[in-house]
Amino acid sequence: MTIFNLGSINADLFYRVPHLPGPGETLAARSFQRGLGGKGANMSVAAARAAARCVHIGAVGGDGGWAVDRLTEYGVYTQHILTVSKDTGNALIAIDDTGENNIILYPGANQAIPIDHIAAALQDAESSDIFLTQNETNGQRDAAERASAKGMRVAYAAAPFDPQAVKAVLPLLDILFLNEVEARQLQEATGTASEALPVRDVIVTLGGDGARWHNTDTGETQVFPAVKVTPVDTTGAGDTFTGYVLAGLDRGLPMAQAIGQAMIAGAIMVTRQGTADVIPDLRDVRDFGG
Ligand code: RIB
Ligand code: NA
Repeated sequence: MTIFNLGSINADLFYRVPHLPGPGETLAARSFQRGLGGKGANMSVAAARAAARCVHIGAVGGDGGWAVDRLTEYGVYTQHILTVSKDTGNALIAIDDTGENNIILYPGANQAIPIDHIAAALQDAESSDIFLTQNETNGQRDAAERASAKGMRVAYAAAPFDPQAVKAVLPLLDILFLNEVEARQLQEATGTASEALPVRDVIVTLGGDGARWHNTDTGETQVFPAVKVTPVDTTGAGDTFTGYVLAGLDRGLPMAQAIGQAMIAGAIMVTRQGTADVIPDLRDVRDFGG
């Protein structure tokens, strides 16, 4: 099986700051680091690190060759990443001493993926494959329709949250990933609790409180306790969780086990500064006790 992930690719520019800057404030960073990121790329790398075959569908600018090389190096299949005449997406990430962050995102090439490029990439997919997407690219609805029509399982992480985008794909979804804030926003947007949505599996991450998984077929909700760690940088932890859950399913694990492993991968990620470049592999997860 293969995971086809339509997703963003960013240069992540990390600034460690004594506190998050306020309006009009000029602030000297204590350190600077550039790395590979983007919610899409992070999820693809997590899936590959978790031993799944993951094909990334996306776009970079002429300045983005390094990002594609890095994805390849990390085990992601990159043949469906297009170079377009826009800047590669990038994210300015400020992180304070408590690990709290804020992010300014420039989508660039991520929002300029031709629909026919996505359609052509999905022609390689089979009904046993999983389609995954998030909200940092264009083309989600069209791609989810194609994937669903092929009989693929359709998974979606509603991040960054956009009520219109979620509503557009909701009827097509088999697996929905939300964090606590997104779950609340979705409930406000649809008037429906996440457990009552027409999606078979809804997985809500609760930060320091763990995660919960609701399965519509059984009507059951399972709660997973948090893995306790001291936060260094939470950026990319949710993306790592998502990639790991799908990789687990792709490897044939039952959902509860896939989530258990993903919780550990996400927790390890919180202890590491950076995003796609520092996503743990299965050995790291096992060493941690998973
Ligand atoms: O979820 C973390 C990601 O959000 C970062 O890698 C950044 O690129 C933004 O897309
Ligand atoms: Na991190």
